[in-house]
Amino acid sequence: MSYLIAIGGKGGVGKTTVAGLLVARLIARDRGPVLAVDADPNTCLDAVLGVKAQVTVGGVREQARQIAGQGLPTGISKQQLLELKIAESLVEADRFDLVAMGRPEGPGCYCYANNVLREVLAQLAAQYPYVVLDNEAGLENLSRRLVNTVDLLVLVTDPSQRGLETLRRLHALAREMDIRYSHLVLVVNRVRRDELPRGLAELGAELGAEQVLGLPDDDELARLGEEGASVLTLPATNPVAQRLEALVAWAVGGG
Ligand SMILES: Nc1ncnc2c1ncn2[C@@H]1O[C@H](COP(=O)(O)OP(=O)(O)O)[C@@H](O)[C@H]1O
Ligand SMILES: [Mg+2]
Repeated sequence: MSYLIAIGGKGGVGKTTVAGLLVARLIARDRGPVLAVDADPNTCLDAVLGVKAQVTVGGVREQARQIAGQGLPTGISKQQLLELKIAESLVEADRFDLVAMGRPEGPGCYCYANNVLREVLAQLAAQYPYVVLDNEAGLENLSRRLVNTVDLLVLVTDPSQRGLETLRRLHALAREMDIRYSHLVLVVNRVRRDELPRGLAELGAELGAEQVLGLPDDDELARLGEEGASVLTLPATNPVAQRLEALVAWAVGGG
């Protein structure tokens, strides 16, 4: 069984950065190969990990729909076609692979394709000891297109009081969407002067989070973002990397 880590939060708070750094910390612990799933069409986990996803799962679904519309080659089922196409869309890198979900479907019925895709993706994910999912704010992929059960749910926010409200809302959303998790961690990103927002510990207790974690606003990380460089180049001594190292050690154990 793979260990699934899902990251959620509204746009711009640092989800993709955290997802990328978690992949980096897992790799550093020799926990690879890791499957990184870019499930946020608005930001690019591939770029943050220094690779390029040419084909997305959304694109695969569309292609499969078109091919199926023209009649499938004999001896091939729609499921096999989707399996082949997903395999084609997988980006293979050093100690991690990446698959990008792409944009959600337009109008029309995609239920069948989505069901098959979910199965194909689950089979793919099962081949990796660790899977890191970078989600969009609505957690749509978690509820509909991917998995609804994860080992670790990491909710990320900014260090404002409104950011804390966002965490409460996201937690409620996860409940509503019946997203299940074994462990919950709240991350407040881009904290200055090491001050966590007032009420964070209480909120953590209220939501049943096992950890509340502040990540410093870090120049080195900001520069990587500005330059579009991979977070895999961030040294292990960086303060944000160190905090996430501790989180990974807590979540998946030493060794
Ligand atoms: N702790 C941090 N310190 C400095 N810059 C950060 C930090 N976390 C994220 N950033 C920067 O903030 C920007 C948005 O981060 P990103 O991970 O893309 O957010 P999201 O995925 O939530 O939209 C990026 O340019 C990233 O480099
Ligand atoms: Mg993102």
